[in-house]
Formats: sequence, C-alpha cells, structure tokens
Amino acid sequence: MPKGEDIIADSTVSPEKKKQTILSGMQPTGSLHIGNLEGALLNWVRLQDDYWMYCCIVDWHALTADFEDTRQMKSRVFEMAVDFLSAGLDPDKCAIFVQSEVKEHAELHLIFSMLITVPTLTRLPTYQDKKDKLDSYGFLGYPVLQAADICVYNAHKVPVGKDQEKHVWLANDLAKRFNRIYRKTLVEPEALLTPIPLILGSDNRKMSKSFNNHIPIEFTEKETEKRLKTFYTDPKKIRKGDPGTPEGCPIYLMHEIYTPEAVKEIAPPCRTGELGCVDCKMKLSANLNGKLQPIRDRRVELIKQPDFVWDVLSSGAERARQRAQNVMEKVNSAMKFDYRKKKKK
Ligand code: TRP
Repeated sequence: MPKGEDIIADSTVSPEKKKQTILSGMQPTGSLHIGNLEGALLNWVRLQDDYWMYCCIVDWHALTADFEDTRQMKSRVFEMAVDFLSAGLDPDKCAIFVQSEVKEHAELHLIFSMLITVPTLTRLPTYQDKKDKLDSYGFLGYPVLQAADICVYNAHKVPVGKDQEKHVWLANDLAKRFNRIYRKTLVEPEALLTPIPLILGSDNRKMSKSFNNHIPIEFTEKETEKRLKTFYTDPKKIRKGDPGTPEGCPIYLMHEIYTPEAVKEIAPPCRTGELGCVDCKMKLSANLNGKLQPIRDRRVELIKQPDFVWDVLSSGAERARQRAQNVMEKVNSAMKFDYRKKKKK
C-alpha cells in the first residue's frame, strides 16, 4: 500500500486530496456463497480503487457463536481468503488480514468497553435475537469489538447492509465519546450503505450457509444446476402452462442479477405459463455459471498455492498492524497512558 495512507488521519490535508479509509469485516464461515459475493465482496472490489481498504476476517467474532470447537478456524480463514482473492480483491490495493493477528483490536475493545453501558448493549436487536442461545460476556460485547475493529484504523466508512447499521452507529458514538472525554483522536465512522440485491436460498429464506440453502462459489456447474433444481418457486405454478408470479420468486430474484434481459425474457413468459420453472432454472443456471466461471477458475489456481495465500494474509496483517499501532499510540497518549519515557532528541 502506498505511503500516503497516513495522511488520512491528518486533518491538515485538504479534503480533495484525502483518500478515505474503509474497514470491512466478515466472519470466517469458510467458503462463501453467491449471497456473500453479491451482497458484500463485489462491492468491496469496486471500492478498493477509491479508498484505502482494510478487509478483516474476524476470527474473534466467530468465537461468539462457537468457542469450543476451533479446529475448523484455520481452514475457514484460508477458504475465505481464497474467495476474497478470487472475487478480485487485490492485495496491493487492500490489506486482507485476520483480526486476531492484530492485537490492537483487543486493546481498543477493552478501552471502549468502559465507555458504554450494559443496557445500551442489551437493547440492540442483534443481542435480543440471540440472547437465549448466546449469553456470554463476549457475545454481549460483540458490537464493542466491532467498533474497535473500525476505529483502530480510523476508518471513515464501513460498507454494511441494513442489519449492521446500528453497530456502525455505535462505533460512531464510541469514537465521539472518546474524543469528548479525552482529546479529539478518532475518526467518527459512518456506514456506507449500498443497495444489496436480495438473494434467497432454496427454502425461500435468506441465503445462508447455516440453513444449507445456499450456492457456494466453489460449486461446480453441475452442482449449481442440481442445487437450483431444489429451489422453491411460486407454489401456485405447479407445471408448465400454469401462470406464475415472478415477483418474490427466489429464482426470478437471481435472474434480475444474472440475466440482463430478465424483465423481457423471463417475467412475461413466466406470467403466461409459457416458461416452466425447470426451464427457467436451467436458463438461470447457465447465466450464473457463466458469471462465476472466472472466479471459480481463479479459486482452483489459488487453492494450489496455499503459501501465496498465507503470505497475503501475513503481509496484510503487517500493514494493518502498522496503522493500528499508530492509532493506538495516539489513543494512549490522549488518555495519558504514555508511561514510556520519550527519547530525548
Ligand atoms: N458484524 C459483522 C457481521 O456479522 C462482521 C464484522 C465484524 C464487521 N467486525 C466488523 C463488519 C467491522 C464491518 C466492520 O457481518
């Protein structure tokens, strides 16, 4: 990453010259599916030309769901890094790294944990939704760690979907609070909301690996076709000839992304009954496979070069660490935690 990066935190640089910083994060769930690809990854790829990017694989966050069995973590991290690179994230433009390799996230998390009350955290919908299953101290602090992920880079923008907006708002609030209590040190980050296409899974719920209703990027063409055949469609359209309703059909939602002329070529014959669901799925399969092919090809190549992938992650962590240490030095000095004797010049 070019040297100029550090000018971001320097408010003396004129706004036109400033390139802003983005921090994005994803839990290492292993290989990604097309929902992750369209919803996040391809968006990150578009952003990497205009921002300093930090793409963090948040392994500590993943512990909130399962802290006992960590045997899969390494392979999940590896697969995620492979998918990041296959989708087009360029390690020269963005630092791709693993959260636990940059200990400063934990340091800022601890400081932030003092600046927030427990009721603020228990009120969050993300906590309410899962509190019956997950009631650890770490899970309660999940958004505080996320705030630290963001603020430890003095990131300006965080590309997230609607469901994460409150967490970014919380990071903004924590940065503001820190700046008010100690000294203006941290950038107050904001969500970069991008319209995310809705991708539903085979069972008509949100596409998710945990529901096993997904289409992994790593699927072969045949596997993709086979999985698409299991997809839910308009229940009133039982056989070819029956009129269908494309709106809300998970297959049609994907046509809108992968079939350029979906409005003309898919919706009308679905409505009249002329296009049956099987044929409709076959058309989608061809288009989807076509779009995924280059990504899948790169994936196959990268899997053969594990050393390269681990090197990307370690040099990404190195760059991330430099930036995070720089910010933490300012944080500690704002708090008067600067015990180390300054060297006399
Ligand atoms: N909470 C995010 C999610 O579940 C993952 C995440 C962790 C994150 N730290 C982050 C996202 C920092 C953006 C910025 O999707």
